[in-house]
Amino acid sequence: MKPIIRYTAMVALAVAFGSQPAGAQPAPQTAEQPAQTTTNGAVPAPTVQQADKGAASSDAVGSNNAQPGPQPAAGSDAGSAAAAGSGAEAGSAAPAAPAAPPKQTIIEVACDNATPAYTITGAVDTQVASGSVVKVTMPAGVDIIPDNAASAGLEVAAGQTKCLKFNEDGVFLFHSSTKQHGAITAIAWYDMLVNKQVEDLKGGNFWMPKAVNLTADDSDLMYYAVLGLSIFFFFAIAGAVVYFVIKYRHRPGHKPEPSAAHNDALEITWTVIPTIICVFLFYYGWTTYVRVVTPPTKAVEINVLAWRWNWQFTHSNGVQDSDLHVPVNTPVRLVMTSKDVLHSFYAPVMRVKQDIIPRRYTYSWFFPTKPGTYRLTCAEYCGTNHSQMGITNEGRRAVLVVHEPGGYERYLADKAAKSNALPPDQLGKLLYEKKGCNACHTVDGTARVGPTFQHDFGTMVPLSDGSQVKMDESYIRESLMYPQAKARPGYPPSMPSFEGQLKDREIEGIIAYIKSLK
Ligand code: CUA
Repeated sequence: MKPIIRYTAMVALAVAFGSQPAGAQPAPQTAEQPAQTTTNGAVPAPTVQQADKGAASSDAVGSNNAQPGPQPAAGSDAGSAAAAGSGAEAGSAAPAAPAAPPKQTIIEVACDNATPAYTITGAVDTQVASGSVVKVTMPAGVDIIPDNAASAGLEVAAGQTKCLKFNEDGVFLFHSSTKQHGAITAIAWYDMLVNKQVEDLKGGNFWMPKAVNLTADDSDLMYYAVLGLSIFFFFAIAGAVVYFVIKYRHRPGHKPEPSAAHNDALEITWTVIPTIICVFLFYYGWTTYVRVVTPPTKAVEINVLAWRWNWQFTHSNGVQDSDLHVPVNTPVRLVMTSKDVLHSFYAPVMRVKQDIIPRRYTYSWFFPTKPGTYRLTCAEYCGTNHSQMGITNEGRRAVLVVHEPGGYERYLADKAAKSNALPPDQLGKLLYEKKGCNACHTVDGTARVGPTFQHDFGTMVPLSDGSQVKMDESYIRESLMYPQAKARPGYPPSMPSFEGQLKDREIEGIIAYIKSLK
């Protein structure tokens, strides 16, 4: 009975939602640009516009190059980026010294020879990409006055137009005659992309979001073919059953007819037609499956590590992130494994769902056809926070970003330059979010799955065996490598080991961050 119930439900749903089984079209490769730059949904749309993503992004590279200090130039290869990192490790004081920020973070540039990436025409909260040029035009009677020293330079009088360049990430506070507290937030251009609303629901149908994977059409076709056949045969068979039950029901005065012994025409029909259907399903299913599991030889390879409850994507130059960034119009191959339990990598717009298994590597690949920000989830129940896997402090979930041409390379270069240039505690804060420490450890004093990072540094903390240990640098390092070596009471033994996954500089960063919270 169960399949019938399921089909009935499916048919009812299909009728109710009007599925379009013929709609498996290749996605157009356009580079449309939705306006999305405000932090506040209530801000009127025309106030802030993102004029030209390309200009913003190339500008971000430019600013990295222009910054003083020994940080590797954007575009440096993995070797030199790694060299810069290990150089900084050599002396313990070294990382802080070269990262001295420029005196002024916000500088004014001439509007003539800069293409502004954003325009602001009022005292509004805005999010912009750091390194980009922002054209600020104030109407009569509205001015912007910086609130603190860190926001120096953010000063535009009423009726004035200025082009400002935000050299660093940060929240820059201002006040105005029309707004008491305002902020312009500068974040990395690629973080602007991950903060975007996911586009999965644009242009899909009830069954599936619109595919942006070149090879997805075949599997979509199979899905709709099986669905259509199921619906057709459900009605054909159920209808025949109902018809025969009524027509040949037992009535007084009717003798049962003898069963037919043989009917060649009928038997050939019900053998040949289903055989053709099955051969069709097998042939297309098999060839599609072979294509889905065989990546092209020249794919961009990205390592995926999953654990409770985060993703870590490692790119060819060593850049690591908890969001997946990929290039457009290029095959991408994922090499995946898990630290703890079964997880499953699922990107609905790519039609890719693959289990991730501890102590084993699994693979999947796709060919993104359209730049955008898309959904990425874990599709295997992996514990309490399964549904929250990859969630960030701001409540945003890990996403899949398909970059416009050239964007992926820029992302790798900028990201590598940035993580090598950060002071230790800021690097530690970044890792705290990017490595998913925040899933279990808070920084506000409350206990979650693990103890909080706040206050404890330098104090004696109790251990499960009844003894006490001083929470110092050695204890943090040991707990990162061997989490259960000195476990604290009241917390489940669920922390994975980070042995071999953190560079020394990164371990020192995490220690510095925890230290900064005491
Ligand atoms: Cu990881 Cu569910």
